Amino acid sequence: MSLFDLHGRVAVVSGAASGLGRATSLALAEHGASLLLADLNSEGVQKTADDIFRMGKKAVALTCNVSDPLQIRQLFERLDAEFGRIDFLGNIAGEGILEKPELITLEQVQEVFQNLVFGRFCMCQEAGRRMLAAGRGSIVNIGSLASTTALGRGHIAYSMAMGAVVQMTRELSTEWAARGVRVNAILPAQVVNPSLEKRMAADPSIQAKWLSGIPCGRLGKPDDIKGLAVLLASDASSWITGALIPMDGGNMAVNAGGTIGVKSI
Ligand SMILES: NC(=O)c1ccc[n+]([C@@H]2O[C@H](COP(=O)([O-])OP(=O)(O)OC[C@H]3O[C@@H](n4cnc5c(N)ncnc54)[C@H](O)[C@@H]3O)[C@@H](O)[C@H]2O)c1
Repeated sequence: MSLFDLHGRVAVVSGAASGLGRATSLALAEHGASLLLADLNSEGVQKTADDIFRMGKKAVALTCNVSDPLQIRQLFERLDAEFGRIDFLGNIAGEGILEKPELITLEQVQEVFQNLVFGRFCMCQEAGRRMLAAGRGSIVNIGSLASTTALGRGHIAYSMAMGAVVQMTRELSTEWAARGVRVNAILPAQVVNPSLEKRMAADPSIQAKWLSGIPCGRLGKPDDIKGLAVLLASDASSWITGALIPMDGGNMAVNAGGTIGVKSI
């Protein structure tokens, strides 16, 4: 039996229509898991479910706004009805808003916190209650470079919220570790997605700037999360909790602490 085997396990993944959420979902299914997939994008999340179904695994696609506590509770009711258990939560979806600190409105800051902090906390709480009752489970929250270092360029609300995501991860892992529930965070650097593509199209110099902070010499691809997702969902990581794991081509190693002259954004 492989350390990374996920047969018989059930995972919930948000943001499953695209990018990191889709890659995580496919990787977990490839290792045997069944999935409940959530996304705002109905067509995209159904496509991920269909791809998993073709692998011979069960996948239920749900159109769901994971910034809305009511919809999150409905998601978990559906999970209880369809699967009756949860072994892994990939807490991935969540939008930011870029705006200069002197211009951003308080409502926009609140919206970003609703997306990245309160929605994700609600997901952790719903998953955590079920995992604690079962005495086992693993949660992964997606943070960012912005969880641990300042980025500038209008990232004020995103950075404040991503900082909260790592503290949430540390507090939950501390509270729940002795009861069998692990909580970790993955902190990606720039992974190509539709919003990064838009920013690269608008500012042709930005890609070179990002690359100057990535010793590996390339931007991330969604598939870069696959190995970490399987590791953290599986028994191979049974003594890893409260960890903030960079997925960044070496960015944090050169840039942690805001090293002057190695600005990566
Ligand atoms: N790509 C990067 O460079 C990078 C770096 C650090 C952190 N992150 C974070 O990782 C997460 C995923 O990013 P990605 O690159 O996979 O983006 P992506 O745009 O490829 O995918 C995000 C998915 O989440 C869905 N979504 C957004 N808000 C939602 C909501 N409220 N409810 C349900 N679904 C929702 C979208 O429909 C989309 O399918 C985001 O929180 C992002 O901030 C991304």
